[in-house]
Amino acid sequence: SDAYETILVETRGRVGWITLNRPEALNALNSQVCRDVVAAASAFDADEGIGAIVVTGSEKAFAAGADIKEMESKSGLEMLMGDHFGGWAQFAAVRTPVIAAVSGYALGGGCELAMMCDIILAADTAKFGQPEINLGVIPGMGGSQRLIRAVGYYKAAELILTGRMMDAAEAERSGLASRVVPAADLLAEAQKTAETIASKSLPSLYAAKAVLDAAQETSLSEGLRLERHVFASLFDTADQKEGMAAFREKRAPEFQGR
Ligand code: CAA
Repeated sequence: SDAYETILVETRGRVGWITLNRPEALNALNSQVCRDVVAAASAFDADEGIGAIVVTGSEKAFAAGADIKEMESKSGLEMLMGDHFGGWAQFAAVRTPVIAAVSGYALGGGCELAMMCDIILAADTAKFGQPEINLGVIPGMGGSQRLIRAVGYYKAAELILTGRMMDAAEAERSGLASRVVPAADLLAEAQKTAETIASKSLPSLYAAKAVLDAAQETSLSEGLRLERHVFASLFDTADQKEGMAAFREKRAPEFQGR
């Protein structure tokens, strides 16, 4: 945890926690945050003792966007050649399931960071939006692509073109928030959900995330083909034998992660 400048990192049982910690900037995502989050998430991902990751911010802000002050004076060429947001792809690529626990503002890059996660647990205080249009730009960390897939064209277009925020209830109704919980319960609910996930067989978690990810990119027939192969491959794990034996023997399974 001392190794990171902009985040706090903690392990609770089989759950890895990453807490964005730039309160002076409402957790605005600068390059250092990207390096820190990617390093911490990659370390958790490489650790078979970790079965789920939670990313959260503060009560007031999950993250208020990419760091505007860091970007403001850059040229297009600098943004392009520096691959300004490119590092986040490594975060989106972790194999371990990731829960975004969102309280307060999740704007711009903050909303986009939440959408790189697999589950978005929202406090009733959460506010989501893609306000880049108010700055004379557009979403740059995946918002134009992932928001459409989450909420459909018309809701996404309205949010991106007006830059308005939506509250937690609208986000849940729209399919962006997996679930809304009272703000006071957010972190406990995130841990509980993460523990539930982390108690499963790790190979099956990786497999489930991989086919879910593929569904965002492939045709139905390609996706179904992939699902069949990945489904079959899990029958070579000890955990599949254990899971099905436990069902037959009416007891809880003891997964080994292999
Ligand atoms: N970048 C840099 N600094 C930010 C920031 C951001 N995205 N968001 C907030 N801050 C800073 C503020 O500048 C302020 O710093 P100072 O005290 O030094 O002035 C501090 O955080 C607290 O913010 P506010 O005083 O503005 O707090 P507020 O409660 O009055 O307002 C808010 C909260 C409505 C979220 C407001 O901060 C805001 O509108 N922030 C910007 C939101 C935004 O436009 N996000 C999109 C960024 S662009 C992007 O993300 C591109 C992409 O697609 C990747």
